[in-house]
Amino acid sequence: MIDKINALLAEIENLTATNSEETELLRIRFFSKKGEITALMNDFRNVPAEDKRAVGVKINELKESAQQKLNALKMSLDNDAPADDGIDLTRTSYPFRVGTRHPLSIVRKKICDIFARLGFCIAEGQEIEDDWHVFSSLNFAEDHPARDMQDTFFVQHGADMLLRTHTSSVQTRVMEETQPPVRIICPGRVYRNEAVSYRAHCFFHQVEALYVDKDVSFADLKQTLLYFAREMFGRDTDIRLRPSFFPFTEPSAEMDISCNLCGGKGCPFCKHTGWVEILGCGMVDPNVLENCGIDSNIYSGFALGMGVERITNLTYQVKDLRLFSENDVRFLRQFESAS
Ligand code: DAH
Repeated sequence: MIDKINALLAEIENLTATNSEETELLRIRFFSKKGEITALMNDFRNVPAEDKRAVGVKINELKESAQQKLNALKMSLDNDAPADDGIDLTRTSYPFRVGTRHPLSIVRKKICDIFARLGFCIAEGQEIEDDWHVFSSLNFAEDHPARDMQDTFFVQHGADMLLRTHTSSVQTRVMEETQPPVRIICPGRVYRNEAVSYRAHCFFHQVEALYVDKDVSFADLKQTLLYFAREMFGRDTDIRLRPSFFPFTEPSAEMDISCNLCGGKGCPFCKHTGWVEILGCGMVDPNVLENCGIDSNIYSGFALGMGVERITNLTYQVKDLRLFSENDVRFLRQFESAS
């Protein structure tokens, strides 16, 4: 019997287990009711009295070393297992928050889509422009105040390069390259040297539209404006045109829409007039066509330009312009459901 116990002790020395099922099998083999140790205890009865003490000691030694081995195997398996860092892999995930589109992008897209339905294509120019494309080609007189340092950011002192103050510069860029018919919509960022406040910013966004072809008339402009206003602000919107002045259009006008908050009845938003101004427009001045190499005896055109911030303001009643560029997610998330 002692021999058998010694053989088991030697075996225990070399036991290994690679997972918890194997250690469990070893536990069953040694410690279960039908296991090795119980069998030895049962045989103990037949051991002659004078050997009982020695065999008893041996059986205890076996029990102890089997238990120690099992403990050691379990411990090493636990250390190999990934640490329990409190992650519950069965838990359903947190809702995944995707980013939102910026309100200015939403409105810019809506404006461009409306004009796209009338056959206008997107055209883009550059933000750093020269004097010719921003001013001279567009009929701005040499002493026009818009050229002043107080309005315009010049890129280099004394140089001709500047940050465009309006997207009308894209008109020239396109007309210089393309003969009519030209039907373009030009979204873009513009810069003016303004003190930043809730109602003015040193950069903002505009959308310009230009249509040049044979026989384009003021009636075409007016109908395009009416279509745009109703698509943008709703079927019941009315428009009115007021005479105005821009160097690059003759005649020029500013367009108001019936106040979309009070429906034209008068409210604080429209200063109780029932109308809000939204854009400038007019017939392209023949000088501008000629400056771009287009024969003004054959072709005529209309142009219009609007501020995206202004339209966004009317759509979402955002009172403070600075919100658009501060990237505060609490503001931006409010447009999550807008398309
Ligand atoms: N460029 C003008 C501005 O920045 C807006 C404008 C007015 C554009 C009349 C036009 C136009 O094309 O016809 O204030």
